[in-house]
Parts: sequence; C-alpha cells; structure tokens
Amino acid sequence: TILILDFGSQYSHLITRRCRELNVYAELMPCTSKLADLKFKPKGIILSGSPYSVYDDDAPHADPGIYTLGVPILGICYGLQEICWNHKGQVAKCDHREYGLAEVQISRFGESGNSVDALFEGLGDQMQVWMSHGDQLSVMPPDFHVIGRTSTAPYAAIAHNSKSLYGIQFHPEVTHSPQGRQLIGRFVLNICQCRPNWTMEEFIGKEIVRIREICGPKGRVIGAVSGGVDSTVAAKLMHEAIGDRFHAIMVDNGVLRLNEAQQVNDMLNKDLGVNLTVVDASELFLSRLDGVEDPEQKRKIIGNTFINVFETEAAKIEEAAEKEENGATAKGKIEWLLQGTLYPDVIESISFKGPSATIKTHHNVGGLLKDMKLKLIEPLRELFKDEVRALGRLLSIPAPLVQRHPFPGPGLAIRILGPVTREQVKILQQADHIYIEEIRKANLYNQISQAMAILLPVKAVGVMGDKRTYEQVIALRAVTSEDFMTADWYAFPPEVLRRISSRITNEVNGINRVTYDISSKPPATVEWL
Ligand code: XMP
Repeated sequence: TILILDFGSQYSHLITRRCRELNVYAELMPCTSKLADLKFKPKGIILSGSPYSVYDDDAPHADPGIYTLGVPILGICYGLQEICWNHKGQVAKCDHREYGLAEVQISRFGESGNSVDALFEGLGDQMQVWMSHGDQLSVMPPDFHVIGRTSTAPYAAIAHNSKSLYGIQFHPEVTHSPQGRQLIGRFVLNICQCRPNWTMEEFIGKEIVRIREICGPKGRVIGAVSGGVDSTVAAKLMHEAIGDRFHAIMVDNGVLRLNEAQQVNDMLNKDLGVNLTVVDASELFLSRLDGVEDPEQKRKIIGNTFINVFETEAAKIEEAAEKEENGATAKGKIEWLLQGTLYPDVIESISFKGPSATIKTHHNVGGLLKDMKLKLIEPLRELFKDEVRALGRLLSIPAPLVQRHPFPGPGLAIRILGPVTREQVKILQQADHIYIEEIRKANLYNQISQAMAILLPVKAVGVMGDKRTYEQVIALRAVTSEDFMTADWYAFPPEVLRRISSRITNEVNGINRVTYDISSKPPATVEWL
C-alpha cells in the first residue's frame, strides 16, 4: 500500500487514482493523521500539494515520524516544500504565481555523465510538466541534490543524497503532465518496489470474504436500491457474498423516471437474482408533495417519507425472516444496513479542512441509522466511480446499467420548478423519456455525464393547427463532467436537438416550447434546484 497524505490540494485524489491504475493499492489520508493510528505499514508515502504556504501560521504539517519509517517518500509541490521545511531548506514566494506548462531538464550524473536519478530513469532528457505554485524552494536543504530544473525553478526536482526522499515542484498526477504516470510508476513500482497486484478481481474475492466474516453465518443485511450504478453494484456484491440474507428494497416515490420501478425490478430481481422488494409508495409521496414548491422542502419531504416507508418495509421483512427461523432466536433480526458510499464521499468526510459548504442538502439515507440502530456496511467505500463501473462489469451487470447517468434521490421533484402535482410529474416523465431515448438512439449517451429534462413553471404562446396555444416550456440540459464539482454543457449536433424538440412538442400534451440550457457549473449547478 502507498500512503498518500492530503494537504488539501484539489489534485490529491488523482494521485491515488494514478497509483491504483498501476494496480497498486493506495490510500489517501489527511496530512494530520498520526502514524500510530495507521492500520497498515505503507511501502511508500506521497505528500500532496496544498493551497497553503509552509510558513503560514495554520499551515498543515505531517507527522515527523514519516521520516524515520525508512520507506521512500515523494513530495509533490507543497509536499516538496514540506520535506524542505522539515530538513532545514528554505522556501520563498515566487515573483509571479507559476501556473501552466513548463519543461523540466533532467540532470545527468556519474563519471560518464550518463546516469539520471532512479526517479527519472527511462523518461528522457526533458519532460513536459504542469506547474501550479506560488512558492518554491530557494535554499536546498543540506544532504539533498538537484535532479531536475526548469528555466524558472532551479530546484524543480530534488533527492536526498542517501535516503529515498524525493521532492518535485510540478504535478505528475494531472493529465497535462504527459509522462506523469510513468514518473509515478517509477516511484511506486521501482523505488518503493510495490507489486502491481491490486486488481478488481482480487478486490471482489477479498471483499466477499470480508462481508461474510462481518455478517457471520446468519447475519441479515438490508439496503435501499435506486437503479443507479452504486446501489446496484453494492447489492449484487452483497448477493454474491450472502445470497438471500441480503434483502434489497426499492421505494417507488412517484417521482422516478417513466417505468423505472418496473425496469429495476426486472433487472435486479429477474436478471441478477437479488432478493428485492419494490414498494409502491407513490401515492403517499405525491400526496405529501402536492403543491410544494420550495426545493429544500421537497428534499426534506422525500427524505423523511423515504425513511418512514423503508422502516415499515424493513420491519415486515424482519418479521417474515423470524417466522422462517421458527422464531427460535433473534437471529432473524436485521443487523446491517448496506450503503453504496464511494471513496470521494469518504475523502470529503475525512478532509482535515472539514466537509465543504453545503449548497444543497443532498438526500441520503443517513437518517435510517439513528432510528433503526443498524450497523453500516459499505463495500464500495474504497472505490472511485469508474472502479465501481469496472466492478459492475465483472459482476455481469448489463453494460447499459453500468454506464448509467446519476439520478438524484429527490428525482423529478427537483426538476419540476413550480409546485409538484401528479399532472406535472406525468408531463415531465414523458418529456424526459423522449429526451433520453433520442440520446440513446443517436449513440450519444456515453459521451454525456448526465442529461435531464426540466419542467418550467412558465407558459408561452404557440400555434398548433390554426389554434393559438398557451402552454408550458421544457428545458433540456446535458453536461460533461469528471466529478460533478464542475461541469460543462454538452454541444449536441443540431439535428439531434431538432428531433428531440419536435418529438416533445408533438407528443407531450401541455408543452409547446423546448429550450436548451447552455450554462456551465459554476456559476450554475447541474440540477436547476
Ligand atoms: P448539483 O446540482 O449540486 O449536482 O450541481 C451535482 C450532482 O448531484 C446530484 N444531485 C443530487 N443527488 N440528491 C441526490 O441524490 C439531491 O438532492 C441532489 N441534488 C443534486 C445531481 O444530479 C448531480 O449529479
């Protein structure tokens, strides 16, 4: 395992990903972590970049114990400065913040002048790299030497004379540094000597064993599924591990996509064999949502109602399970709640800066734990989204599902901008269905990260036949995004938009106009509410 200490750079998680792409398991932890609390012995440590300056009063610093562990350490950007700060070098502000591409000249050593440092072996004489820093090394720490320089940074890459301590000013983890992957590979595979044996097949095997150990021979687990990638993959993995002792619940909240509940049932239950109960609670949800306009209110109602319905259903399942076991012991009891938590959520919650400000209260099922006294089981908590997709493929989950766009918990309710009514839900379901169907037909689904139709609470004048119409407007949105923290609008071929617009205005009663949203995030968000 490679330990990555996060000093708050926006690229920290990318370092983790690059290591895992080399099939080496890497774990990101806050830079303030104490070595004594570590549950594993790392084979190497990488220190990330940071928005701080090492001399700031509140600058974060690593446990000094890392330097006596005897494992190789690579400092990236702030990480380099942190190593220098700790080894009596000096760091100074640059005249200008350096941001963009630079060329690193790799230093040559040895009698024949032909050797380069082990970190750069096989990477050539120059390397294009991405720089983003306001500070740089101004005085080398004693016992270090330069292994690479740029025109503005004489100490762009340094190494200790005898220990495996490295610092680089640039960011090898971003794709703008074309040889960055190779460089991280040099560190992880050659210098740290990690074996590339972390594969998804291996992960499945280990995770199944771990789940079986946690649950014991009789333990029961329940979990909510939505039809999304994460909950489906988590459910299938649980099914592989403990069969029907895992029970999935899908709540139809009345604001799902058209025919969604049916499709999820067919796929999860019929195709994948997961023990699933679909609860049609649409009437309850829609009656509680009726006429509600405020977005946070919508989220709250859906979140709370979801908890009510889920708990009632879980109690029924528990009762049935106890009967099945002749009521002998309390073994029929459900002890665990499955959650599809992913690594980015974990990173967010362990960040030494604390979770970021809440723009929208994203609905989750955390409330269930408080009331039901269930223990949490999170088989995906070490994985990134694309790793979950790879896992899904290995678990034979059909490709269209594995590639599915995310869909928010509060569903279409937050895509109806005015008051929610049954009528409005129906209009939006139809428009959304046509939109997604046409995107699939045009073979564009996998190029888009998320696509949605939004029903606007305004009316516009139109003409149909010889008659004047006065009807509502549908807005279409499609974005591309890496992580949904930022997003760009998708540039559809015009003929696709034309077809979608024509079908929606012709086929959906109550709509006479379609617009396309060309806002990026920021300043807009992905959803309209
Ligand atoms: P925003 O609108 O915040 O969306 O830019 C970013 C991503 O989050 C999803 N989203 C939600 N997901 N409950 C969810 O489960 C919510 O309340 C919610 N609001 C936004 C959104 O669909 C996008 O993928």
